[in-house]
Amino acid sequence: MGGGIAQVVAVSGRRVSLHDAAPGATERGLTAMRRSLERLAEKGGPDPDDVLPRVSAVDDLVPADLLIEAIVEDSAVKAELFRRADEVLPAGAVLASNTSSIPITSLAAVTGRPDRVIGMHFFNPVPVLELVEVIRAVQTSDETAAAITALAEDLGKVPAQANDFPGFVSNRILMPFINEAAYTLLEGVAEPEAIDTIARLGFAHPMGPLALADLIGLDTCVAIMEVLHEGLGNPKYAPCPLLRQYVQAGRLGRKSGQGFYAYS
Ligand code: 3HC
Repeated sequence: MGGGIAQVVAVSGRRVSLHDAAPGATERGLTAMRRSLERLAEKGGPDPDDVLPRVSAVDDLVPADLLIEAIVEDSAVKAELFRRADEVLPAGAVLASNTSSIPITSLAAVTGRPDRVIGMHFFNPVPVLELVEVIRAVQTSDETAAAITALAEDLGKVPAQANDFPGFVSNRILMPFINEAAYTLLEGVAEPEAIDTIARLGFAHPMGPLALADLIGLDTCVAIMEVLHEGLGNPKYAPCPLLRQYVQAGRLGRKSGQGFYAYS
């Protein structure tokens, strides 16, 4: 998602530094960005050659007005990144997280600027979906919330505000839907294609829950269910064993080439 976020920020005319700890990840992000921009250019979007020079790959965190973190859904790893960002970015900068479910309040608490920490949650594929869920930590100031809301609008997105409870609004609703679809498959109620067809044609969803889980990443889905389960303390949020098993097998969805479906 980091590449998609960098893309929409660059399209808005801003300069972006793209950093990923995994070797080759920024290059893959830049390649996906070019492909996406080319698709959008066919429909009147900006010339990719005008946008891409505004994005530079960097080897480490760099000083900037805003950080948008989109790393692994692991609270310890995110907290460590926020600690480092607090040292590297100027005191007035806002530190935002694209987390799907990890408490923004806990990330704010590890920094010396908790009033300037906020959730800025985009949706996959970022260049296409319009929503940005803006999540206020307990400590987030009105000024920070207003600045991030205005930025989301300036990126052509529609912001909607949520408070900092596990899964916020989006994933508290979406993940139990995906989890139930996995149980429906596990219990032999229907094949994946039938489950997804029922959601697509019966509920007019653009894609079924299993295909959507593959798009999001099954590891991410399990991580979000675990945050919901732990944070809300209700057994109904426990991840479906089939999701866990697929993750153990390395079947993570589109990104690994296989999830509920196979991808070439
Ligand atoms: N960049 C640019 N354009 C893209 C694109 C990308 N990455 N992906 C798709 N598009 C464009 C296509 O070019 C196409 O444009 P057109 O209609 O003008 O031809 C349009 O989007 C539709 O794409 P496709 O024809 O390839 O396929 P679909 O009609 O099936 O649309 C989809 C694909 C946009 C992914 C659609 O199925 C969809 O919206 N699915 C639901 C996605 C969703 O629910 N996302 C939220 C996930 S939750 C999340 O991200 C939060 C996290 O916390 C878990």
